[in-house]
Amino acid sequence: MQVIDIHNHFFPESWPDLAARFGTPNWPWIKHTEPGKAEIMVGDRFFRKIYSACWDPEVRLQEMDRDGVDLQIISATPVLFAYDRPIEHALDCARIFNQAALDLCARGKGRLKSLCQVPLQNVDTACQELSRCMKEGHVGVQIGNHVGVRNLDDAEIVTFLHHCAGENAAVLVHPWDMFGMERMPKYMMPWTVGMPAETQLSIVALILSGAFDRLPPSLRICFAHGGGSFPYLLGRLENAWHHHPVARGQCEHPPSQYLNRFFADSAVFDQRSLQYLVNTMGADRVMLGSDYPFPLGEESVGSLIRQSALPEESKKKLLSSNAANFLGIKQPETQGTERNVAAEKAADISSPITPEAGKLTYSSYLQVPELLQLQHPQSIPAHHDELLFIIVHQTYELWFKELLHDLDAVVLNLRRAGEAPQSHDEVYEAARLLRRCTEITRVLVEQFTILETMLPTHFLAFRGLLEPASGFQSEQFREIEFLCGLKDEKMLRYHRPTPEAYASLKRRLEEPSLRDVFFGALQAIGKLQPSSPDATEKERFDARARAVHELYKDERNHRDWIDVCERLTEFDELVVSWRLRHIQLVERIIGFRMGTGGSAGASYLKLTLDKKFFPELWEARTLLTS
Ligand code: HEM
Repeated sequence: MQVIDIHNHFFPESWPDLAARFGTPNWPWIKHTEPGKAEIMVGDRFFRKIYSACWDPEVRLQEMDRDGVDLQIISATPVLFAYDRPIEHALDCARIFNQAALDLCARGKGRLKSLCQVPLQNVDTACQELSRCMKEGHVGVQIGNHVGVRNLDDAEIVTFLHHCAGENAAVLVHPWDMFGMERMPKYMMPWTVGMPAETQLSIVALILSGAFDRLPPSLRICFAHGGGSFPYLLGRLENAWHHHPVARGQCEHPPSQYLNRFFADSAVFDQRSLQYLVNTMGADRVMLGSDYPFPLGEESVGSLIRQSALPEESKKKLLSSNAANFLGIKQPETQGTERNVAAEKAADISSPITPEAGKLTYSSYLQVPELLQLQHPQSIPAHHDELLFIIVHQTYELWFKELLHDLDAVVLNLRRAGEAPQSHDEVYEAARLLRRCTEITRVLVEQFTILETMLPTHFLAFRGLLEPASGFQSEQFREIEFLCGLKDEKMLRYHRPTPEAYASLKRRLEEPSLRDVFFGALQAIGKLQPSSPDATEKERFDARARAVHELYKDERNHRDWIDVCERLTEFDELVVSWRLRHIQLVERIIGFRMGTGGSAGASYLKLTLDKKFFPELWEARTLLTS
């Protein structure tokens, strides 16, 4: 069993002088007081004493060994959030500490992973930074439980949470910036009283606002410190919900129905509280979180759970598997039995090359464990066919990614071909890559048959849970259309909830398309005359079709360009085949029902059959005579 602590903190040993960098006062800085000890200061104010475990991986790993912790999910601390600072400063600050977290993890012998921080005051920037960080290797994000007066049910923060679900990022909500500070000047009351109340407020806001009804169940969100005072006072909330309409808010179900939508950590420091927390939330929803290595953290990490009277099975969940589910990571195999250990040894002897620990393996290179953790059926219990439905779509998206990668390279080669008309290499290369695109698309057309092994009734058993998710929201499909030249700005509206997708599509809309670059190249090599500025769209179209027509008429001299034309035409043809097979599948599975994206379903999709990426190539065929 791999023991995972999902809530603990770090500080780097040093970081740039933020006050000087941004020209504003009261930024946190670190004052080293003696070897291995330091104080965090905020401007001139003392904030907290810390020690080398915050920055020294050796110390951390030793203490993890002492406490029997295998993996720590480290995060920075709320004092660094900077949500009230100008967005550029907050982003810069986030990046400094996000990089510091990765640096610490890199020295953690595979036993440290990190949650990033984002400038949550601006949803677009926060989403972008999260996506960047996920690509860089963070496993999720730690956010403060509010931004000024905006609670977690604020529309922009909910958009950010949506984005986290889309990015498969685990979210740890940490209370901070406690209300009523003027009434809690002493005795660490902001930590002992304010923080639990802040967390309760956040959970209640997400439930009563109906945000959990709108957020995808795939969102993995955890509240620190045992969910604050929420679990203990759930009864009060439930009572108000049932008896006082004004206390109901917009949620569809009573509050107790939302306990399966979030996690809480185990930082409650008392056996009765832990037992109560598990009774309330369920043994699948509580995870080891220690607040290590801060003064209010658990001293011997994990001992509360280990010494509890919880059944062994539940202890394992709290110490290990719940966190793995929360983080979407696969756990290492548990120790094998004597028999299979012996069998492994025998296999070792006969195997010519034995993988060495720490070296690249098939699995680590391809990130197989991570890949296999990415399927999260919505049906409970999971309907047998939902896994197929997810995997088929994911496979399409992977191929779409490859298509975009190759089509971008085709654009580059055609652009270069226009710049160096004497060289034919780029034209051949464009044709070669286009052949790959057509072969991929052929597979994509075929793949629908696998989904057709699903009975309509089986799909209907879980279809309702998918709304309003729809193929309309496939960013990459739309990117392919825009990149090839089929641009429809209206389609952007389906991507408003995901600012990153929206931004990429907007960029594709504005960039010259494959079609533009192709005709630009024909112009550069003198096969297409530049059209006059006042030429109509129809005149430009006709001139382009005629240029292609000229190429075909002079086959001996233009074999390379004709090959590109043929490949583009074939690709166009195959995309139409894809559309047709998709329509047949839709009719077969849901008949003429409406789509989950709000369209008229198959009847709407039929209207897309006439769409072509490269209409001039088709028109040129009409122009050819015998
Ligand atoms: C049970 C299987 C499927 C059904 C019932 C289905 C249904 C639909 C419907 C009704 C639409 C129209 C938009 C809407 O109102 O939601 C649509 C669009 C779309 N679907 Fe599917 N679909 C299925 C499988 C797939 C698969 C496997 C893919 C692969 C990526 C896919 C990709 C798309 C795309 C990209 C669109 C947008 C098409 C466009 O705007 O031209 N669908 N789907």
